[in-house]
Amino acid sequence: MTDVSIRPAAAADIQACAEIWRESINDYTGRLNQHPIPDDLGRIIRLHQHLFATDPGLFVVAEREGRVVAFAAAVRRDRLWFLSMCFVRPREQARGIGRQLLETILPPAGGDAVLATAIDSAQPVSNGLYSRFGIIPRLPLLSISGYVTHPEVLPDLPPGTVAVPFETIASGPPGGPGHTELTSAVNALDRELLGVEHPQDHRFLRTEGRHGYLYRDAIGATVGYGYTWETGRVGPLAARDEALVAPALGHLLRAVPSRGAQAVWVPGAAGSAVELLLGAGLRFEDFPILLSWSEPFADFERYLPISPGLL
Ligand SMILES: CC(C)(COP(=O)(O)OP(=O)(O)OC[C@H]1O[C@@H](n2cnc3c(N)ncnc32)[C@H](O)[C@@H]1OP(=O)(O)O)[C@@H](O)C(=O)NCCC(=O)NCCS
Repeated sequence: MTDVSIRPAAAADIQACAEIWRESINDYTGRLNQHPIPDDLGRIIRLHQHLFATDPGLFVVAEREGRVVAFAAAVRRDRLWFLSMCFVRPREQARGIGRQLLETILPPAGGDAVLATAIDSAQPVSNGLYSRFGIIPRLPLLSISGYVTHPEVLPDLPPGTVAVPFETIASGPPGGPGHTELTSAVNALDRELLGVEHPQDHRFLRTEGRHGYLYRDAIGATVGYGYTWETGRVGPLAARDEALVAPALGHLLRAVPSRGAQAVWVPGAAGSAVELLLGAGLRFEDFPILLSWSEPFADFERYLPISPGLL
């Protein structure tokens, strides 16, 4: 055991948490001769701010002599408890701090929560620690990135299916009928494919500047949604019919001009998406992440998550 004290995070801790995130990842990836994380922490800080805004009670830090040495953050979306972050400064690892942080924010044993997270496959310690709580690695989450060098393999949307920009549907004032229609269409897809709604995460994606599209079939029924971003990031993606996953990806890869390489997080269960992206010229990047859970909750053949930090 260790003499750190654990307390709820404050907004002022977020910068230190982002630095611990970078330091502890670079520590083990460096030993594997992988590239270090870029210095710009802007994106991870915005994610931490989102986690803190939606679930302040599930964001905790460990402190020694007034210095933050570790942190953990989870989100609760209906039944789903998802561990987004757990990082301990390298010098402080293997002394029980990760376990203490986790025990502080885990839901009470015996409840109906589904526990889940996404872990680097190159990290036996975190895989081992979370498995002790029943959060067991079940499915690879593949980072596929690069440039579309074979655009001719990207399928078109099925005849009659259209991609409607979110802004076209939610064009009126906030809270108006367009916003309500969009939110309920997206929530219904999320309940069906992810097992839970997460409108707060969709708001985050839109404030980040990601462009959302709702897919509608020839009779106007909602059949999926997807996001794309000028940074090159594509996803999340939800498709009511598995056969729509590849055409929707084809649409998203072409929908906005990308400033650089494009990148998609693809669960191994979504085989058609993997084949399409590799055929189009993208490549596997780094080791796979492992989607881990205590019991099945989502259909990863038809749902491509936001990132390992937020489903
Ligand atoms: C992963 C991390 C958060 C764990 O925190 P920590 O304080 O070092 O871990 P703890 O000492 O609390 O616990 C480690 C546990 O892993 C177990 N473990 C270690 N190696 C293992 C292995 N190869 N197989 C199974 N279990 C293993 C230990 O036995 C211990 O479990 P126990 O408490 O039941 O005995 C921390 O090491 C870290 O930040 N690592 C680098 C970044 C990272 O990978 N973060 C996780 C991202 S999802």
